[in-house]
Amino acid sequence: MSKPFLSIERLTQKFPDGQGGTLTVFENATFGIEKGEFVCILGHSGCGKSTIMNILAGLAEPTSGVVKMDGYEVSGPSLDRGVVFQNYSLLPWLSALKNVTFGVKAREPGWSKAKVEEHARQYLAMVGLEGDVVYRKPSQLSGGMRQRVSIARAFANHPKLLLLDEPFGALDALTRGTIQDELLKIWSGTGQTVFMITHDIDEAILLADRILLMTNGPFARVAESVEITIPRPRSRTEIVEHPNYYAIRNHLVQFLGQRSKELAGQKSDSTELRPDTVRIDHTDAEAVENPETSPRLRAVNE
Ligand SMILES: Nc1ncnc2c1ncn2[C@@H]1O[C@H](COP(=O)(O)OP(=O)(O)OP(=O)(O)O)[C@@H](O)[C@H]1O
Ligand SMILES: [Mg+2]
Repeated sequence: MSKPFLSIERLTQKFPDGQGGTLTVFENATFGIEKGEFVCILGHSGCGKSTIMNILAGLAEPTSGVVKMDGYEVSGPSLDRGVVFQNYSLLPWLSALKNVTFGVKAREPGWSKAKVEEHARQYLAMVGLEGDVVYRKPSQLSGGMRQRVSIARAFANHPKLLLLDEPFGALDALTRGTIQDELLKIWSGTGQTVFMITHDIDEAILLADRILLMTNGPFARVAESVEITIPRPRSRTEIVEHPNYYAIRNHLVQFLGQRSKELAGQKSDSTELRPDTVRIDHTDAEAVENPETSPRLRAVNE
């Protein structure tokens, strides 16, 4: 099998637990992401999702294990990886506009000041920030506005890999829907690869090609990779009509509600570190007729 675009190999993270001991957040986490894939990761609070993302971004070093992008080991941040952090992390002394132009200038040193600014404004407008508001500093913006600046900043740089940590968490449902649509438009037009953390199951089904499911920590692991067997383009209103929608949704709910706890703390079996692939497809006629014999259809409520 050829190596995936992004390869996470035996990643282990231990932290001091604050009481003189050691907390193993996750151990031997191993998975791959193909070029152009949109992958979401779901797991309970504290299982280590942001820690994984910080390592993928090159902003934190794991205790052991490696991350490779395009065959090269990730070390330190790069303009090829755009990040929307859970806490936005804007530069507080710069306006919303300058927070975006800052990265664009670095990425496109040959562009004129006017071109950089126009590009940045286009991305800010895409997330609904136009007019005087772009001259405000982060402390003068609402939480949702800050989050939108952070999204514009990451998207404007056209990174090969977009790392999004609950990027829509602070947004109202309407704004969230609009920006999800923009994200899909950008992603489908550019061949970028997206790795996104979310707590919203419906958002994950709408956006992802695949959803990774993490067990609870400590010793959390990526236990399953659930394929979203719903064709694109997907629309928020029509997707729920698809025969696979509720089957996939129930599987995810069941994992997060029950199995993530049952599997918690189990050290991974060293022979198979990769997550199990789960493919639920009720449109596969053979699988529906012969659920016993078809290896492609896994029971939804096991
Ligand atoms: N620098 C650190 N030092 C010590 N412990 C840490 C550090 N960073 C994270 N942790 C611990 O690692 C665990 C995972 O944290 P992380 O932020 O990755 O969780 P998460 O899955 O992103 O959770 P949430 O969904 O709440 O954002 C937590 O128990 C946290 O307390
Ligand atoms: Mg987090």
